[in-house]
Amino acid sequence: MSARLHHRTALVTGSTDGIGAAIARALAAEGATVVVSGRDTARGEKVVAAIAEAGGRAAFARADLSRGAAAARELAEAAVELAGGPLDILVNNAAMLIEPAPTAEVPEELIDGALAVNVKAAFLLTGLIAPTMAARGGGAIVNLGSISGLYGQAGSALYSTTKAAIHSLTKSWADEYGPHGVRVNTVAPGPTFTHKVAAMEEHLAPMIARLPSRRPSTPEEVARSVVFLVGDEAANIHGATLSVDGGRSAI
Ligand SMILES: NC(=O)c1ccc[n+]([C@@H]2O[C@H](COP(=O)([O-])OP(=O)(O)OC[C@H]3O[C@@H](n4cnc5c(N)ncnc54)[C@H](OP(=O)(O)O)[C@@H]3O)[C@@H](O)[C@H]2O)c1
Repeated sequence: MSARLHHRTALVTGSTDGIGAAIARALAAEGATVVVSGRDTARGEKVVAAIAEAGGRAAFARADLSRGAAAARELAEAAVELAGGPLDILVNNAAMLIEPAPTAEVPEELIDGALAVNVKAAFLLTGLIAPTMAARGGGAIVNLGSISGLYGQAGSALYSTTKAAIHSLTKSWADEYGPHGVRVNTVAPGPTFTHKVAAMEEHLAPMIARLPSRRPSTPEEVARSVVFLVGDEAANIHGATLSVDGGRSAI
């Protein structure tokens, strides 16, 4: 256990699994008190137990972020209560990963669902949490973008749009909240082998073979970038995009 984030409180959305769970573990390993969140209580409690076993502090708040403003408000309030005080760190990580499909075949409910979870929830939570951070003199927000938000790709119009929106929100929020001490940045992963994405290895192989690194990222590598951006080493970094993509965005 390190003390880099000792006495800081953090909410990580979508941290019952994948990259979010790795971010929750990494923030807790640096001493932060972490609120783990998602829809699946059993998986969330498992992440909390693993953090406690490693000597960290965490609690679980169930939230379905497809449910709009009421769900976001409930989560923001529960997080403050479970963390034992106002939040210093918000990681907007929760997202629906969407199967590639032609635009004309994407059903309306999937469009609404993806926009609600991937964009609207981050928008609402930031609006609920950043003003309190600002009033207390500062805080740090990291949004999970994606290389998919930087490029056009046939079949990926919906997912890419949600991630491009996240990249845009980071820049607007950096301008809005930065002068009040709240730093807002993006971490943009490339293919990252969570157990779900690793199961698509065959499909991703040609893209991974083109990466300068010739390999996918690990959830832990993405998590370490989040730790860097919320910590004091990043004190004058605002509105940046940190790519953890094996070099994809450079070529
Ligand atoms: N993995 C990659 O290759 C990759 C690449 C680029 C960017 N990213 C970005 O990195 C972030 C994490 O991705 P991941 O691969 O770790 O995804 P994942 O394994 O599918 O995990 C998604 C997380 O979001 C939560 N979530 C989904 N729908 C939710 C809802 N309606 N309400 C609340 N929580 C919800 C899930 O929890 P529950 O199931 O418990 O609700 C889960 O904890 C996302 O923003 C993604 O766009 C990932």
